[in-house]
Amino acid sequence: MNHAQQSEARHLLQVYAQLPIEVDSAEGVYLHSGARRIIDFYGGHAVAALGYAHPDLLAALRRQAQDMYFQSNAVALEVRAQAADALVGIAPAGLSRVFFANSGAEANENALRIACRTTGRARILALEHGFHGRTAASAAVTWGAAKSWYGFPRAPFDVDFIPRDDIARAEAMIDGETAAVILEVVQGLAGAYDLDPAFVTAIAAACRRHGALLIVDEVQSGVGRTGAAFAAELYGLQPDMLTTAKALGGGFPCSALLLTEELAARLKSGDLGTTFGGGPMACALVSTVIEVIRRDRLLENVRTLSAELQKAAVTGPVTAVQGRGFLLGLRCKRPAKDVQAALLARDILVGTSSDPAVVRLLPPLTLERQHVQTLCAALADIG
Ligand SMILES: Cc1ncc(COP(=O)(O)O)c(C=O)c1O
Repeated sequence: MNHAQQSEARHLLQVYAQLPIEVDSAEGVYLHSGARRIIDFYGGHAVAALGYAHPDLLAALRRQAQDMYFQSNAVALEVRAQAADALVGIAPAGLSRVFFANSGAEANENALRIACRTTGRARILALEHGFHGRTAASAAVTWGAAKSWYGFPRAPFDVDFIPRDDIARAEAMIDGETAAVILEVVQGLAGAYDLDPAFVTAIAAACRRHGALLIVDEVQSGVGRTGAAFAAELYGLQPDMLTTAKALGGGFPCSALLLTEELAARLKSGDLGTTFGGGPMACALVSTVIEVIRRDRLLENVRTLSAELQKAAVTGPVTAVQGRGFLLGLRCKRPAKDVQAALLARDILVGTSSDPAVVRLLPPLTLERQHVQTLCAALADIG
């Protein structure tokens, strides 16, 4: 245990597996640990889309804190309207209504509630190996949760899991009883596993045929991480609802549920709510993150460097690369944990995943070529 871990252990619940580093501060794509400068290919669970201490985010934080650092949804705010405008501006066609919340799980919880309410159906389908969060409904659609940590005596609706990339099973399972299918097109925690586009298309078509809603969870993949504003775009999808969080506030906690006008018209005052969701600080940062991604052409940066990385990273322990953009999984011939430790010894932080053979990369969208080269050289070096 390092010093910070010992301090945390005094009173904090010990429920997290933690990395063996102490971070004093962070700037750009670097974590500072004493004299060490560690390149962050993990991005704090994919949150640090613009890295750390980004001048535009700092300026927006200061400006908004000075103007008004909190106000609830009982008061309409220009800053909230602007964040919603910006988000709808980059969202897949048809998703023109926004509900701001605080976490990915909360956004999914609301999406699932809307699906059950508006369809009058009680069955949700999710995907094997998917992760959607830890609240009652989000965890109910998370693969493996029921057997390990779910904890509630029952799920709030019926749930079934579709095997990944099995078109025949998906078509057989989606029927007139299905309220919604929820999926991550690039499964993050599962190791950046990018689903077969034909499978995703078949699910979308089956949902349309049977009047089931399609919910795309872009909590991890959204807001530029895959080299598109949203990964749904890469799959040609027009979901009924889309959830996003993590990168959305660049580190300030917030999430959003995007939905169609048609669904929005079915909701009335009082149907959804939150105290902190849509707070002015979060909203100022949402607008800033989206603007910086546009201004600095970060989607192009992600696409270019991802293509280079996908080629050059197949070296040393890495046998294949999966995923899209900067949501990548390096399949390794030895345990991902060992590769993670070997890279950390060389001042490079990468993530692991629920697949023990896959190292996960979720770097800031501001990453540079030199960082990609450093990672690939280190991979070759550790053999
Ligand atoms: C795809 C996906 N959905 C939902 C969640 C839950 O988000 P949060 O931890 O903000 O509740 C996560 C978190 O890792 C995620 O990766």
